[in-house]
Amino acid sequence: MIRRSQPQGTLEGFEKVFVPEKIIVTGGAGFIGSNFVRWVIENAPNAHVVVLDKLTYAGNINNLAGLPEDRLTFVKGDICDKELVESLFSEADAVVHFAAESHNDNSIANPDPFLRTNVEGTYTLLEAARKYGVRFHHVSTDEVYGDLALDDPSKFTEDSPYRPSSPYSSTKAASDMLVRAWHRTYGVPITISNCSNNYGAYQHIEKFIPRQITNILTGKHPKLYGDGLNVRDWIHVEDHSAAVWLILTQGAIGETYLIGADGEKNNLDVLRSILRNMGKDPDDFDWVKDRPGHDRRYAIDATKLKTELGWRPIHTDFDAGLKSTIDWYIENKPWWLGEKEATEAKYDATGH
Ligand SMILES: NC(=O)c1ccc[n+]([C@@H]2O[C@H](COP(=O)([O-])OP(=O)(O)OC[C@H]3O[C@@H](n4cnc5c(N)ncnc54)[C@H](O)[C@@H]3O)[C@@H](O)[C@H]2O)c1
Repeated sequence: MIRRSQPQGTLEGFEKVFVPEKIIVTGGAGFIGSNFVRWVIENAPNAHVVVLDKLTYAGNINNLAGLPEDRLTFVKGDICDKELVESLFSEADAVVHFAAESHNDNSIANPDPFLRTNVEGTYTLLEAARKYGVRFHHVSTDEVYGDLALDDPSKFTEDSPYRPSSPYSSTKAASDMLVRAWHRTYGVPITISNCSNNYGAYQHIEKFIPRQITNILTGKHPKLYGDGLNVRDWIHVEDHSAAVWLILTQGAIGETYLIGADGEKNNLDVLRSILRNMGKDPDDFDWVKDRPGHDRRYAIDATKLKTELGWRPIHTDFDAGLKSTIDWYIENKPWWLGEKEATEAKYDATGH
């Protein structure tokens, strides 16, 4: 019998759960992946984690610094490398698949690596999971559902139609479809989660919140796309990690779960909160042209995850989470400063 109440981010109290002993975490040197690795090491004392990460511009080995060496193995490699993937899968009992090209703006400038990593890479992992009977949790995004109108009272559910807008979200949608097909056709034991926008420490500075914070810290103006009214449904990365672990260990095989923390906010309000929290004039930013195809609003209905698995977010005060994220970027300047010029040069080239 599986006990459905979640003991707030620990394994204590679980009666019967799938508790993997050797877990491969793809993309474990990225933002959410590294947070998840830390979460597992802190909360699942019997698990050994193998991180498989190519260390693209978005991956950083320092994201895993300080974690115990006897609990963690780091393998630098590509999820499209069949031989390497098979050698790792032959010794693992679960994979949590975060590795992806993850930035919409980059996907518009050059979709090529998105097709390769997000689609071909997921296919390579699924084939290895099929061969070695490895449990497969696929980490995906709410962006596969396209967008909602600002005045639409509805939210995305597990039954919403797939309507991806960007090269990024269309490749994530494709990867979700592959995962479902490998379950239905070959019986690969999968679960899928589609999560809303994450924020927190270790997020690459190309992304909305860290870009604004680090612009302010380097004396640049924050930049706001379009009219700034696009709504994102923010969730703290630690709540996402806890939800992924819960789905991996207690979710029903073949099922999809939406993860969201009722954090709808428009970009203008988020930017003004950042400026206020950093002691700046809330209107001291530049309006820039909009992203082509920019989704208007995302909103998650996480009822299934809450009622079936008992998940609850812990970080429900967005302003407090934002403040601690700002503090992290202030305290960890060496982590991001070397990337700042090149990141802004990419944006300058597209007028953003
Ligand atoms: N950031 C969000 O708000 C969000 C929300 C929902 C879902 N997701 C999903 O979560 C996952 C992680 O997102 P993130 O924001 O942490 O991304 P990220 O860009 O910070 O990290 C991606 C990681 O994958 C690695 N990687 C890229 N290509 C690889 C390859 N071919 N082989 C091996 N490793 C490779 C990178 O080196 C990096 O460490 C993605 O699948 C993304 O679609 C993200």
